[in-house]
Amino acid sequence: MIDQSILVLDEGTTSTRAMLFAADGTPRGTAQEELTQHYPKSGWVEHDPVEIWEKTLRCARAVVEQAGGADRIAAIGITNQRETVVAWDRQTGKPLARAIVWQDRRTADFCRALKDAGREEMVQEKTGLLLDPYFSGTKMRWLLDNNDAVSSAAEADRLAFGTVESWLAWQLTAGERHITDASNASRTQLLALDGDSWDDELCALMGVPVHALPRIVDSAGALGETHSDLFGAPIPICGMAGDQQAATIGQGCLAEGDTKATYGTGAFVLTNTGKRLPHSEHRMLGTVLHQLEGKRHYAIEGAVFVAGSLIQYLRDTLGLIDSAEQTEELARSIEDSGGVVIVPALSGLGAPHWLPDARGIISGLGFDTGRAHIARAALEAMAHQTFDLASAFAADGCAWTGLKIDGGMAANDWMAQDIADLLGVSVTRPDFVETTALGAAMLAAVGCGLHVSLEHAAGTMIGSRQTFDPQMDDGVRAARLSRWEAALGKV
Ligand code: G3P
Repeated sequence: MIDQSILVLDEGTTSTRAMLFAADGTPRGTAQEELTQHYPKSGWVEHDPVEIWEKTLRCARAVVEQAGGADRIAAIGITNQRETVVAWDRQTGKPLARAIVWQDRRTADFCRALKDAGREEMVQEKTGLLLDPYFSGTKMRWLLDNNDAVSSAAEADRLAFGTVESWLAWQLTAGERHITDASNASRTQLLALDGDSWDDELCALMGVPVHALPRIVDSAGALGETHSDLFGAPIPICGMAGDQQAATIGQGCLAEGDTKATYGTGAFVLTNTGKRLPHSEHRMLGTVLHQLEGKRHYAIEGAVFVAGSLIQYLRDTLGLIDSAEQTEELARSIEDSGGVVIVPALSGLGAPHWLPDARGIISGLGFDTGRAHIARAALEAMAHQTFDLASAFAADGCAWTGLKIDGGMAANDWMAQDIADLLGVSVTRPDFVETTALGAAMLAAVGCGLHVSLEHAAGTMIGSRQTFDPQMDDGVRAARLSRWEAALGKV
């Protein structure tokens, strides 16, 4: 029998990549390409769907070759930046506009109008989500109202809308499948958490034609097959999930109450609520964790919009650091941030504040402030933002007893320790931090029958972890939090 691998396509906000995993979770190969970020106006963020597809395909082909050909791949798992909207023409398969990225704030006025009209309660009750430009529904409406190609395609019944996994599935199957998995669908604001299909009332509220939307499918199973021209032979697509849901699975947060925090472009904390429909009284989100054989598991989520993107901003825009890794050395080089606090509201504030128009601030600057203080304050902002989420989760009755962290930034030991210190809980980090890709591999492995369940896949595929125990003095913690509160008050 040939030793087959699982191919994961992990399409994130700043880069896209392909990774190969053995059935026991051992990583076997990777290829990655950066994505161009388009910022046409303040608060707007766009991607080129063709670039997403071409770079994803190139990465996929590179690792299929590393594997020894398509017959060495048992299945593909897709995971993706969520909420980002792609519009394309069903007949030509060509995009009709640039993708509107999840960070994009252009629909803030529409969201405000819906809120003023008293619609938030109904939307939250059904979808678990709040009225914020973050989600896909209002972005779809914007495209219909402002892009002639999109509105004409809708009139001609040629419009296809989808989030990124949907766009990739369409391309991979050469237009055979227009599908989305339930975890991604739950981020559009057009699906009720317990609804089988798109919700008519929500689609009418957002003005999105149901016939333009993909079919909602399970997160694992026989979801489609790649067109044979792409890799020399067809490969089954057997797993699909939003990247934060995939990371939750890849962290092994499979039981009710298990919590993970991923520090990628943004920071996203999810607590598994099992089969229980999630409901928050403190402005957290309810979301689908996964759907298997038609049955859903759910999670409560706290979404913070700026995490790694702050470090990227310090490096690429301000030129204060040469590399992300340097922040650790800079943070360790001083005793404290010298009173400097950063509120990283560069694209508004997400949970628990939900202020789409907020913008970032750096407070406490003095002539003695150097780049080490700014770098340390940037890392401290991660613990501060996580603390706000921890408080809101606790108020919702989901207090964290520990936190499993991952994502690119989690490799920073100083930050991991600071989060444990500020939250006063143990933080654990897997030795293999690519949990998003691992979660997608687990779904694909279950979907193609390599493992019988996610629990079984977790037992085999998830490796060892390192623990960071809290050590901070209560007085230091209180002083840090009061400075953070004061800075937040200025946003
Ligand atoms: O909801 C947005 C999220 O999916 C983006 O994830 O990994 O690009 O920070 P990431």
